[in-house]
Amino acid sequence: MTDVSSMGPQQGDERPVLTNRQGHPVYDNQNQRTVGARGPATLENYQFLEKISHFDRERIPERVVHARGVTAYGYFEAYGKLGDEPISRYTRAKLFQEAGKRTDLAIRFSTVIGGRDSSEAARDPRGFAVKFYTEDGNWDLVGNNLAVFFIRDAIKFPDVIHSLKPDPVTFRQEPGRIFDFMSQTPESMHMLVNLFSPRGIPADYRHQQGFGVNTYKWVNQQGETHLVKYHWMPKQGVRSMTAEDAAAVQARELGHATRDLHEAIDRGDFPEWELLVQIMSDDEHPELDFDPLDDTKVWPENDFPALPVGRMVLDRNVANNFAENEQISFGTGVLVDGLDFSDDKMLVGRTFSYSDTQRYRVGPNYLQLPVNQAKNAEVRTNQRDGLMTYHVDGAGENPHVNYEPSITGGLREGQYPTHDEQGPVVSGRLTRKRIPRTNDYKQAGQRYLLMEQWERDDLVLNLVTMLSQASRPVQERMVWHFLLVEDELGGRVGEGLGIGPEDVAHLEPLASQDLTEEDRERLSNLG
Ligand code: HEM
Repeated sequence: MTDVSSMGPQQGDERPVLTNRQGHPVYDNQNQRTVGARGPATLENYQFLEKISHFDRERIPERVVHARGVTAYGYFEAYGKLGDEPISRYTRAKLFQEAGKRTDLAIRFSTVIGGRDSSEAARDPRGFAVKFYTEDGNWDLVGNNLAVFFIRDAIKFPDVIHSLKPDPVTFRQEPGRIFDFMSQTPESMHMLVNLFSPRGIPADYRHQQGFGVNTYKWVNQQGETHLVKYHWMPKQGVRSMTAEDAAAVQARELGHATRDLHEAIDRGDFPEWELLVQIMSDDEHPELDFDPLDDTKVWPENDFPALPVGRMVLDRNVANNFAENEQISFGTGVLVDGLDFSDDKMLVGRTFSYSDTQRYRVGPNYLQLPVNQAKNAEVRTNQRDGLMTYHVDGAGENPHVNYEPSITGGLREGQYPTHDEQGPVVSGRLTRKRIPRTNDYKQAGQRYLLMEQWERDDLVLNLVTMLSQASRPVQERMVWHFLLVEDELGGRVGEGLGIGPEDVAHLEPLASQDLTEEDRERLSNLG
C-alpha cells in the first residue's frame, strides 16, 4: 500500500493546488501510475498522458517568415487633421477623426529570415506590424523598417524568401544563392542599397522607423479615394549598427532588441512613434517616372510631403510570450471602413497569404484568441465549429439560425455607411505583364547619393564581403547593376571584387527588364 501521508501539501502551505485541465486536483506530480514501484506503467494514466501529450504539442509551426519577434501594447492618439485640413476630407476612418481620440493597439516587431531563436543583430529587414483594436473592428498595418521591398509582384515572394533562407542542402545562408536571385531581379536594387547600408541592422526596435511599404487607399464620406503611404517615425531617433557593432552584440546575446524593448517599458520609458502619411490622387500619375503602386519606390517627399496624423505610445509588455507574441496574427486584409486596398500587385498577394498561413499555423479559429479578437467592436458571425472552437458568436434571438437570410431571427446584413461604389473605374484585358515605368535603378542611385561617406563605405564593404562568396558570373552581373545604379557604387564594389566596368560591358540587359534612356546612356559608357 502507498503511504499517502508523505504526499500532498506541507502543513501551512496556502498556495493554490495544481490541477489537470479537467479540473481534477493533482495529488502526485512526481510519479506516474505504475504496477508496483518499478513499473510497468498503465495506459489509463490520464493525468500523465494529458500532461505529456500537451507538452508534445507545445510548439506550433513557427512563422515561415518573421519567426523571431516581440509584442507589446499601447495606444494610438489621433491628431484629427492632415496638414491644415480636417482629415475627414480624405478618410472617414473613425480612429483618425477627433484630435486626442485614443485607440488600443498591439505591435509586433520582428526579424524576417532567422528562426524563432535566431539573432536579433542579423542584417535583415525588421517587421513593424501594428494591430489597432478600433470600434469598427481591427485594422492591421503590417509594415517593415525599410521603406521599399525586394520585389513588386507577390508571385515572386516564395522565390525571394527561398534565396534568403538557408540552403536546402547545407542549411547555411549562402550569399551565392541570395545574389544569384537578386542579380536576376533588378527591381531589388533599391532594397539592396538600403539593406546593406547601416540601416540594414537597426540598433534595436525602439530606434527604427516603420513603413507600410505598399500603397493603400483612403476613402472619404463621398466615396472619393486617395492613394496613401504610411510612415512611423521614432521619437527616440534612428540608430543603426555596422556589421562590426552587430557582431559584438551577437557575441553576447541573441535577443538584445527584445530585451531592450521589455526593459524600457518595464521602467516606464515608453517608446513613441509618430504616424505620417503621404497622399496622392487616385490615378496612374503619368507625370511620374515610377508607378505609385510599385513598392520598390518611395514617393519623393518634396512633391508628396509626409504629414503627421497621430502618435503611438507603447506602455505594456505581454503577460505571456506564446499566447500574445507567437499567436498574434496580422494581415494586410484587415482594414476598417475608410481604409482600402490599392491595386498594388504585392498587396493583393499578401492579403491572401497572411490569413491562409494563420489558419494553418495557429488554426482555423485563430481569430477567437484574445490577442486577435476585435475586442472593441462587436463580433457576430454565422461561422461555426472547426478545430479548437471555444466561443459561439451571439446569434441574435434565435440560436437555431446560423444562416442568413432568415425570417425566424438570426443576424441581418448591415447597411453601407454611404454606398458601395468608390474610386476610379478600372478596365483592361486579362494579361501577365510587368507594370510600365519599372525604372529599377534611379531611386537606388538617389538613395546612395543621399548617404553620408561612412554609410557609403559601410555599404560597399558589406556588399563586397557578401559578393566575394558568390560565383564570378553573379559578381559580374551585380557590378553591372550597381554601375547602372550609380557609377561610384558600381566602381567601388567592382574594385573590391577585381571587376572593372570594361569586364561587364559585354553583358546584355536581362530579358525580364526594361531600361530607361538614362540607363542606356550609362550602359553605353561602360566599355
Ligand atoms: C509575416 C507573406 C511581403 C511584412 C508574413 C507571413 C507571411 C507573409 C506568410 C507570416 C505570417 C504569420 O505566420 O502570421 C508575405 C507575402 C509577401 C510579403 C506573400 C509579398 C507578396 C511583405 C512586405 C512587408 C511584410 C512587403 C512589409 C511591408 C511582414 C511582417 C510580418 C510578415 C511585419 C510579421 C507579422 C507578425 O509580426 O506576425 N508575411 N509577406 N511582408 N510580413 Fe509579409
